[in-house]
Amino acid sequence: MVYYIRFLKTPRTQAVKPGLVSVSALISVTTDLGDAFLAEDVVLQAQLIDAGTMESANSVLQEFSYKWEAGRRELAISIGPVRLASKVSRVILAIGTKSTSTVNLDTDLCDPTRVPLVISGWSAPFGVSQNTPAEKLIERRFMLQNKIQLRIWEETGNNIARHIWQNAIGSSGNCSMRQLRSHLERKSNSNQSIQAIELGSGCGIVGIALAQMLPRCSITLTDLPEVQDIMACNLQLTRSAAGSTCDFKQLDWEDERDGDNMPRPPMDLILVSDCTYNADSLPSLVRVLTRLVQASPQAVVLVSLKQRHESEAVFFELMRRAGFTIMEESAHALPAAYSEQDSIEMYAFVRA
Ligand SMILES: C[S@@+](CC[C@H](N)C(=O)[O-])C[C@H]1O[C@@H](n2cnc3c(N)ncnc32)[C@H](O)[C@@H]1O
Repeated sequence: MVYYIRFLKTPRTQAVKPGLVSVSALISVTTDLGDAFLAEDVVLQAQLIDAGTMESANSVLQEFSYKWEAGRRELAISIGPVRLASKVSRVILAIGTKSTSTVNLDTDLCDPTRVPLVISGWSAPFGVSQNTPAEKLIERRFMLQNKIQLRIWEETGNNIARHIWQNAIGSSGNCSMRQLRSHLERKSNSNQSIQAIELGSGCGIVGIALAQMLPRCSITLTDLPEVQDIMACNLQLTRSAAGSTCDFKQLDWEDERDGDNMPRPPMDLILVSDCTYNADSLPSLVRVLTRLVQASPQAVVLVSLKQRHESEAVFFELMRRAGFTIMEESAHALPAAYSEQDSIEMYAFVRA
């Protein structure tokens, strides 16, 4: 299980004297569900970054180390007083391990020892002269193939939909499901376009990663209305590959009328990442998958999951009864506390 830096209180500055500010925030290091805290000692690095020159090499204004100790539930971050040049008006607080390095989803996922146990986070920019906290958001940064940067915002509160789940990190990588990916790449390289839909897309990381990596791919991300705002932030940052597009539509699996929101067939790919955790919603999820594949019989349904409860196993039985068979499956290792490994499962289903 990987852990995420979370802001319990987003950072804010306080003017100490003219030109001197201190920065404070309250963080936690928890699982995607927020149900467990990292029970291991790690050194965290906090960087204060000039938001105006974020991408340049000298944008880090100050760097401090903090120790997260096993048994903690929260950690107060307090930086400064720091003297800032007058041209610095807005800053970002980045927290992670090892200089807040980004996870390379192209290469690191193939070697779980390279995926950090703690996923770094970047705050929203906040002003140095007002005592106003940063917006309640946190950004995650990843690298995709060909050095494509993937930037995804999450909300800081406790909400299932507006967070990136661990499976999403696994399924956004390039080394999972090689067979399926090479099938899609062959299609895309032969100038055929790919139509894809993602169900329960949350913040959109999986579908957005696909749209950034695959040319001539048209992907519709779908979820409940509550993700609309965070999705809009993330779609704004999306740099789709040549000829690719990415958009969002509301689609509630429980609402039969939402079928009107489904993109027009034929679909090539249907993505489902970490949506099988609630056994009660599985019949309606499988109903939507069945409806989509009835309209697009060639479509492949790519499901990534981590079985957290035994009750989730019913998903496979419902899929079998709906006529789906597994074309390819893989298990994907991710780090866990105490140098152990955790795994997520990926299944490519087709309708027999
Ligand atoms: C655990 S989150 C996974 C989010 C994202 N796919 C990821 O892996 O980061 C499950 C997602 O399924 C969505 N979901 C749950 N019930 C749904 C329903 N009835 N219709 C549409 N989406 C639903 C939630 O809103 C949430 O975004």
